[in-house]
Amino acid sequence: MANLRLNYLLDRAKAMDLPRVWRMAGNIGRDFRKPRAVIFADMLWSATRYECAFQDYQDWDFAILSPAERRTFATHPKSNHYSLMLNTDKTANAQLSNKLNFNVRFEDVLGREWLDIREADDQALKDFLDRHADVMAKVPDSLGGKGIERIRRHEVTDLTAFRRDRMRNRQFLLEEFLVQHPDLAKLNSSSVNTMRIVSYNDGTKVHILATALRIGAGGDVDNFSGGGMYTMLSPEGVALYPAFDDNNATHGIHPLSGVPIVGFRVPLFAEALDAVQAAAQRIPEVPFVGWDVAIAPNRPVLIEGNYNTGVFQAKPTVSGLRKGLLPVYRAAIGR
Ligand SMILES: Nc1ncnc2c1ncn2[C@@H]1O[C@H](COP(=O)(O)OP(=O)(O)OP(=O)(O)O)[C@@H](O)[C@H]1O
Ligand SMILES: [Mg+2]
Repeated sequence: MANLRLNYLLDRAKAMDLPRVWRMAGNIGRDFRKPRAVIFADMLWSATRYECAFQDYQDWDFAILSPAERRTFATHPKSNHYSLMLNTDKTANAQLSNKLNFNVRFEDVLGREWLDIREADDQALKDFLDRHADVMAKVPDSLGGKGIERIRRHEVTDLTAFRRDRMRNRQFLLEEFLVQHPDLAKLNSSSVNTMRIVSYNDGTKVHILATALRIGAGGDVDNFSGGGMYTMLSPEGVALYPAFDDNNATHGIHPLSGVPIVGFRVPLFAEALDAVQAAAQRIPEVPFVGWDVAIAPNRPVLIEGNYNTGVFQAKPTVSGLRKGLLPVYRAAIGR
């Protein structure tokens, strides 16, 4: 029995990747001039006390927050609980998270052409590639920017090899590479810069819980994993604070374009909120959704909807705000 318990604890410890936590504690300790071991212990304590993931601890500067302040933050585990509690239709969740299904269902608001490579014959594939200078290949059921690859038309010389590689990587979905609004392209041209808008449909009304702007920085995608960063938006769609990235670096101006991030106004923002309202109403079976919304030159378009959305919140050390979005979540959701 004791052995079983020990094994269990060892498994948990392994799953937690303690060396990574120790590394993160070192960086955070350096930033805040606190002993690494103290931060390390506090990260473990916060994981159980506040359901705070280690990345959450870093992102929202838990090291300097009081217990009361910590409790206002929506953490990834807490958000996951909301998802489990609210998005109870597993079939609907699976359908939403499959990018091919999503594209079928939200065809009219995608603003881009797409193709299921398994259903396209060689001619259809060739025509698709000839119509688009760049395409985005996607694994239909992946997350966090994984399996996503930008492919330039001129790099494709052998169609058979191209198809074989896509099939091997399970990149069954090909999308036209979106052209984004020039304002967003100026901010960062390496990727399409999207908003993450979290919505909750209570059955009669759609509440907007969070609006963040994700910005790429040299990568083909704007996700953290692709070197991207994010900041929160005002109700008018203006970037409120410097953005921060996966490595805890903060950026008041964009590191590559030099364009100021603070004060950046997202074009067609009101239209984007309307698009999310409409989309959320279209899929009441999944009431709690994190939408990825891009802004094309003339209109907002939906990239995808996540039934198990991550959390996007202001970072206390850059925003000066020591309050998270949990009260907003609670007020809308009622729990
Ligand atoms: N058709 C497209 N054209 C250009 N860029 C795109 C396209 N589709 C997606 N992107 C870029 O790739 C990013 C990731 O795309 P998507 O949301 O489909 O993948 P994901 O792995 O599910 O992301 P996450 O789970 O982190 O939300 C987008 O935020 C955007 O920057
Ligand atoms: Mg996404």
